[in-house]
Amino acid sequence: MERISISEVPQHSGETVLVQGWVHTRRDHGKLIFIDLRDRSGVLQVVFAPDNKELHAQADTLRSEWIVGITGLVKERPSGMQNKNIGTGTVELEAQALEIYFPNKYAVQPMPQVQFAVDTDGKEINEESRLTYRYLDLRRERLQKNIAKRSEVTLFLRTWLAKRGFYEIETPILTKSTPEGARDYVVPSRLEQGTFYALPQSPQQYKQLLMVAGFERYFQIARCFRDEDTRGDRQPEFTQLDMEMSFVEQKDVMELNEALLIDLVQTLFPEKKIQEIPFPRIAYRDAMETYGTDRPDLRKDKNDPNLLAFCWVVDFPFFEKTDEGKWTFTHNPFSSPDDEGIELYMDGDAIPSDEDILKIKTKQYDIVLNGFEIGGGSIRAHQEQVLLKTFFIMGYEKERILNSFNHMLAALRFGAPPHGGIAWGLDRFVMLMQNEPNIR
Ligand code: AMO
Repeated sequence: MERISISEVPQHSGETVLVQGWVHTRRDHGKLIFIDLRDRSGVLQVVFAPDNKELHAQADTLRSEWIVGITGLVKERPSGMQNKNIGTGTVELEAQALEIYFPNKYAVQPMPQVQFAVDTDGKEINEESRLTYRYLDLRRERLQKNIAKRSEVTLFLRTWLAKRGFYEIETPILTKSTPEGARDYVVPSRLEQGTFYALPQSPQQYKQLLMVAGFERYFQIARCFRDEDTRGDRQPEFTQLDMEMSFVEQKDVMELNEALLIDLVQTLFPEKKIQEIPFPRIAYRDAMETYGTDRPDLRKDKNDPNLLAFCWVVDFPFFEKTDEGKWTFTHNPFSSPDDEGIELYMDGDAIPSDEDILKIKTKQYDIVLNGFEIGGGSIRAHQEQVLLKTFFIMGYEKERILNSFNHMLAALRFGAPPHGGIAWGLDRFVMLMQNEPNIR
């Protein structure tokens, strides 16, 4: 008999069906044995009556998290006995045959005790055990839903962007360093002893090279690696929705991403309300003055789990001083200065004065949701001279520039269209949408 999934069972009232899954819970009521059977689509009540002695005895051995297949008759429950808390609560399965897949005769004895309950939301269990037994922890409904939703989100993004002319392109994992303000993970090279690959902190340089190559609209669901301290919303290995577009200005990238976010929320999270459309745009200085942070939480009701307050933060300073008193980029060395900044940059060969450097803003935009930075991007420096000036301002020696960035400078020399893009922290975004306290 062909298996049906548990969520489909109510449509088969009066029929004999086969369902397969895990024993979620077991209850005995006098001679009747009830189990809740679980597969990824839901749970179903199954009843073993005492009249079939052999089957009843077999059912009596069942324990939580055993893996079974059950053939049985789907029966409507009398109206008082229906369970509104589960999707299949109008029916139950009267078991006719039971096959136990696990444990079978080859199972190692003694069997490991189930380490912890998987029929709760898991918040009562310490994180170390949950991560040690991650494969068990992921069986719980809350995490199954999160992973399923994340899959729906990536599928939505792919379809939405493909419809608008974006190509999905993979970029290398064994790379040269791309500075994003964190430390690199490195991989030793076997063929060139003593040298190392860096794992990408982001596909930044590659996506810009793809613009030089004429692809015009690129996206990737991209794995990124950053050796930095872990926090709830920050992982050493994480995923970005990364994109880049040619012949665009700041407003084009922002408008496209805003439309994408709104569509995504309305389609996949209809229970959520976006507080303000179009998303407010706040200058960095105003954000710092008014909220004391560049990722303000603008929610009018912070207790409403379905309220989404997006905002854009713009007009960031390009440079800030390091502890050693040198200039460094605030976001991304490949960003373009704003138009005034370009004039200061290109006014002769000299490096602008400290006073002028402080005035230079970058064409950078961050997207913030409920107090978290969920994405950031910029219009890039697409002329070699502009990019070089950024490196000079940061005090990089010619040799270091050539060593680290010659491939980028050389590519720009062949002509790059004006371009810009953005990357979202996909895990962080899904975490917020699912009202989870951390990415893990
Ligand atoms: P940025 O470094 O701002 O920009 O990263 C973009 C977004 O990625 C998310 N993010 C992280 N999420 C989880 N764990 C981490 N360790 C982590 N680090 C960053 C954040 C952040 O907003 N190349 C540029 C993008 C561009 O300019 O197009 C970049 O990577 O949500």
